[in-house]
Amino acid sequence: FKNTTSNSIPYLNRLLKTKNKKLKKIVEKFLLMPVEFQRVRDVKEIQHEGYVYDLEVEKYHNFIANCLISSNSRWATHGSPTIENAHPHTSQKGTISIVHNGIIENYLELKEDLIKKGYKFRSETDTEVIAHLFEDLYTGNLLETAFKVAKKIEGAYAIGVISTYEPDRIVAIKKGSPLIIGIGKDENFIASDIPAVLEYTKDFITLDDGEIALITKKKVEIYNNDGEKINKKPFHVNWDVSVAEKAGYKHFMQKEIHEQPRTISDTITGFSSSKNKELYNLLKKTERLYIIACGTSYHAGLVGKFWIEKYARIPVEVDYASEYRYRDRIINDRTVVLGISQSGETADTRFALLDAKKEGAKTVSLVNVVGSSLSRETDFVLYTYCGPEIGVAATKTFTAQLVSLLLFALEIGLEKGTLNFTDYDFIHHQLLHIPSRVEKILEKDGEIKELAHKYMNATDFLFLGRNINYPIALEGALKLKEISYIHAEGYPAGEMKHGPIALIDEKMPVVCVSPKDRFYEKIFSNIQEVKARKGQVISVATEGDERIKQVSDEVIYIPKTIDTLYPILTVIPLQMLSYHIATLLGKDVDQPRNLAKTVTVE
Ligand code: F6R
Repeated sequence: FKNTTSNSIPYLNRLLKTKNKKLKKIVEKFLLMPVEFQRVRDVKEIQHEGYVYDLEVEKYHNFIANCLISSNSRWATHGSPTIENAHPHTSQKGTISIVHNGIIENYLELKEDLIKKGYKFRSETDTEVIAHLFEDLYTGNLLETAFKVAKKIEGAYAIGVISTYEPDRIVAIKKGSPLIIGIGKDENFIASDIPAVLEYTKDFITLDDGEIALITKKKVEIYNNDGEKINKKPFHVNWDVSVAEKAGYKHFMQKEIHEQPRTISDTITGFSSSKNKELYNLLKKTERLYIIACGTSYHAGLVGKFWIEKYARIPVEVDYASEYRYRDRIINDRTVVLGISQSGETADTRFALLDAKKEGAKTVSLVNVVGSSLSRETDFVLYTYCGPEIGVAATKTFTAQLVSLLLFALEIGLEKGTLNFTDYDFIHHQLLHIPSRVEKILEKDGEIKELAHKYMNATDFLFLGRNINYPIALEGALKLKEISYIHAEGYPAGEMKHGPIALIDEKMPVVCVSPKDRFYEKIFSNIQEVKARKGQVISVATEGDERIKQVSDEVIYIPKTIDTLYPILTVIPLQMLSYHIATLLGKDVDQPRNLAKTVTVE
């Protein structure tokens, strides 16, 4: 290591003590390498947890820093995903290394100033600016410097900083993007979410906007905006480490699909045991409820609208958070805005809710992640009880969101008197049977895989559904496109004749969500229309429905339930179909291209 920075050896020696076996092996291999510069250069690349590191000498510091701050796998928001743009970024003298999640909005201005001072940039990222800025403003104290840097940078950020001058500490800065501190015994961690360090600890502190933390292996000190030390009590999560492992499944997505009987039942229990009287009293008087969310959570909101309007008789408007934020919405003190978000960190949803709150609305969040930003920023919080969801495509959290929204609607209805106890009890009772019914659908894995094989080469898919199952058609299309990259569209079946019907020919698979509910005859006619245009119909239908075979090329049967509960069942085969098509096509279902699990930028 003659030609590497002199700090490499102590870093590497310290790294040998890591509990991460894979990392330890890499470091050992590293230390056994011949010391000559040339020989190290020959190695070129090393594989560390799926990330490729270029071992040219000037990147040593990066490699070590990345090992130290674990592996920040952020896609570059500025520039393409290349090694140069990958984190961490190191300052010119190699004394400071940074990992960053978020966007530095004024990075161009800062970059210009730094270039004038002689700093040379190696990447196209906004993050590199922070590394040089730290070096430029360094006072001899990393924490003190962090306050100076925080005053200069604008935008959203969660930053981890280390320095060769103060090798025993990490400084963390947070504004806008999530940052948690994991509290261990003689070791502490920073990460953007809990599952990343669940293997090491179950005790956490979340940083709030404007806060800066100084972390060593023995202590965690937190400072507010004004530089005053503050006390924050850690919270404990009882998530099992195994939920962050694949447990014999090939992919997290597959595991999470198969976990649904449990996560649905946990959510029924968890939701029912945490009733919030104050919230239901508020909703009794509510004149209008807005539901805002993104992606899959938005689809859950669309189903929720049917239930809340039916059982609680509150008018509901559902909007994409990114649209809601910038429209002239009508809010008064009897308006409630419910934000749905698995992560509780989605920037669009957070900022839309914060804006609505400022305008006088009462805000509620439905989140999966305890302690997430949304859960702390809203007036009331409801949870889904799924444990961490690792696969980028949301599956188990979607069905849990549905369960929570249904129970939410039933509770308000009962409080308000718009739903009588007999009906409430009947629906509740039927809901308790849903986990075993989901189990039955999961047993069809082989059958659905065969079907996937048959249709995997189609270039376009159409998904149709009616009424409460129409959002399921949207969700089926989203699942397929995001993990298989096949173009897919979801439509209300009745809307097909107003345009999409023109797309149908013998090459177009049309997935029809057609359980035996009160809209069955309607969707049956729509399917006949598809068949008349030679589309290939894949129906999701209720067991015992033989008639649907007359108009379908394929039928996936699901168990019978009551009309209101079908969406929780009909979505399962669609998740499985997407999963199998994508894996048969060789796609990375857990980390589809261009997508991130948590979208913390607008
Ligand atoms: C789709 C998917 C995304 C998310 C969306 C919102 O499978 O995962 O569409 O649903 O980014 O994320 P949350 O729910 O965390 O706000």
